[in-house]
Amino acid sequence: MPTLEWLKKEFHYGYTSGNMVKNSDEIREREERKIGGNYIEIVQKLLVSHIQPNFSVLELGPGRGSWSQVILSLLNRDGKFTTLDFQDVSKWINSVEDGPKVEHFQIDSFDYSFLKNDEFNFFWSFGVLCHNNIDSIYQIFHNIYPKMKKGAILIHQYADWEKLENFGWEKGGVPPAFKEKMDNEIWWPRNNQKAMRAILEGNGYEVLAIDCNLVQRDSIFICKKI
Ligand SMILES: C[S@@+](CC[C@H](N)C(=O)[O-])C[C@H]1O[C@@H](n2cnc3c(N)ncnc32)[C@H](O)[C@@H]1O
Repeated sequence: MPTLEWLKKEFHYGYTSGNMVKNSDEIREREERKIGGNYIEIVQKLLVSHIQPNFSVLELGPGRGSWSQVILSLLNRDGKFTTLDFQDVSKWINSVEDGPKVEHFQIDSFDYSFLKNDEFNFFWSFGVLCHNNIDSIYQIFHNIYPKMKKGAILIHQYADWEKLENFGWEKGGVPPAFKEKMDNEIWWPRNNQKAMRAILEGNGYEVLAIDCNLVQRDSIFICKKI
């Protein structure tokens, strides 16, 4: 089961992390227990505080759009929201009246050459890099570099096997048997802060925080295109 082939087929049903706005939501609360964090706090500290209404925002792997709904609510008519996913997410994520221009691309590789250069102010993903192996993550950030504006902010959750080990594999919903397997046989390939930093700095980004310490199982980095 090579991870990439698995990834392209998995999640065809449309993965959701629940509702990020309601006070209480069963799916979101289940996800929060597994990750050891509070999604409303993440929305406030990572999305609300970084997105301006006229931004051009790119999201990788939105699935059913739990985070996209928040992003859409933060943008106005001058803003733009673009998604990239192996799945056709247009059936789950709709544009909003008087909201930003929305464009969804169903992709099957890490080739983003069809996107305009110097286009995006903000690039976000959650629950995506943790399923991609280190070579794929390298390609994502290498190929997206020219598409980001100078000064753009990138915020992404990623797997961190060191934090996972401390947090607890079973509690985190990741099979401990993965420790004995190769990355291309599992859906939670090895990654950590050192490897992630090397990829980002190697591609010319400035790392502002390699982890913002908002969740206990994984890491979330904030970096900038300089
Ligand atoms: C676990 S779901 C997460 C969905 C959503 N971001 C959330 O947090 O609820 C992962 C999504 O990312 C997509 N995906 C994973 N790796 C990708 C990649 N390298 N390029 C494009 N889409 C990817 C999958 O197709 C799927 O829709």
